Amino acid sequence: MGSVLRVGVLGASGYAGGELVRLLAGHPRAEVTFLGARESSGRSLGEVHPHLASLPIGGQSLEPIEPETIAAGADVVFCALPNGTSAALVPSLLEAGVRAIDLAGDFRLPAEAYPEWYGFEHPAPALLEEAVYGIPELFGAQTVGAELIANAGCYATAALLGLVPPLGAGLLEPGSIRVDGKTGLSGAGKAASESTSYASTEESMRPYRVPGHQHTPEIERGLELATGVAPPVLFVPHLVPAVRGVLTTSYATLTEGTTTEALTEALTVAYAGCPFVRVLAPGGMVDSKRVRGTNVIELQAIADARTGTAVVVGAVDNLVKGAAGQAIQNLNLAVGFDEADGLPALAVYP
Ligand SMILES: NC(=O)c1ccc[n+]([C@@H]2O[C@H](COP(=O)([O-])OP(=O)(O)OC[C@H]3O[C@@H](n4cnc5c(N)ncnc54)[C@H](OP(=O)(O)O)[C@@H]3O)[C@@H](O)[C@H]2O)c1
Repeated sequence: MGSVLRVGVLGASGYAGGELVRLLAGHPRAEVTFLGARESSGRSLGEVHPHLASLPIGGQSLEPIEPETIAAGADVVFCALPNGTSAALVPSLLEAGVRAIDLAGDFRLPAEAYPEWYGFEHPAPALLEEAVYGIPELFGAQTVGAELIANAGCYATAALLGLVPPLGAGLLEPGSIRVDGKTGLSGAGKAASESTSYASTEESMRPYRVPGHQHTPEIERGLELATGVAPPVLFVPHLVPAVRGVLTTSYATLTEGTTTEALTEALTVAYAGCPFVRVLAPGGMVDSKRVRGTNVIELQAIADARTGTAVVVGAVDNLVKGAAGQAIQNLNLAVGFDEADGLPALAVYP
């Protein structure tokens, strides 16, 4: 593809949408040409995101989300909209020839799972067969040329990248997988609520949506798609007083003779040549702060011989590798750009 790709960001006034615009500003072959929103339409990008005001498109107005207008102005769109919104919108975008990358959960599961896990009947079940599940390091080959990509969820990305290689190599007992997740507050989006207010979250750590979090079936399905093994997974997410970051700690029973070195080797071999995966050597400990603002996942694995348990830890920035960055990585693969175009790999630290 020679010319610059025209990109639309739907939900540009939100946290994930703002992060898409920020990252795309540094993309050498893509340009944001359409900004879509609902209540914020009519306001400028710089008004809703003052940190983006100095961009060339800082004065551009956000527009209502209407398929004909979007199709006239963009070759590809990122849907950074609430769950359930893009399922209704994407069919008309695809019909109009616009490639779509959905950051919500609307195309990640089989149709029959939506009433239970998302609370709606899926309006476009045929498209669920077409959608490619978007984690480039696991499903990159299918992503090339894809017209509809279901960008993976933040928790699911961190858990799957850690679990798939050792499970696929037969180092874990499939029926024993437990995933503990922790997220910072930006994972809840920009809308203020009492439960995510400063007063209720400062110095608070709490589980939520247990055992019904919608990333549970996503992790199970991702494991099956990547390894052919379909284990049940218990997933327990927690909210912690941070702004950015997702950390998953996964536990599983080790198969006979599995060592920390064997687990680490499985991860290292699986991700050789992957620009955004950092596997720590035995003894290293993951830190979510080291991936902040980057598209990197940091992984470590431990075999605890005393209890016969594998511990696999993954950390991502929920808004980058867990959302906007991974979506751009998927776009790059889909259209034939360099996978790393526009994506930061070095964190701001401390
Ligand atoms: N935050 C994360 O860490 C994260 C990580 C992975 C995936 N995601 C997914 O990304 C999506 C966006 O999340 P977010 O955190 O960016 O949410 P957010 O900050 O709440 O932003 C939501 C955006 O959607 C727009 N919107 C709301 N209701 C709409 C409707 N009915 N029709 C059209 N547009 C509507 C909003 O526009 P107005 O403000 O103009 O109404 C806003 O631009 C969600 O599906 C979320 O699950 C988020």
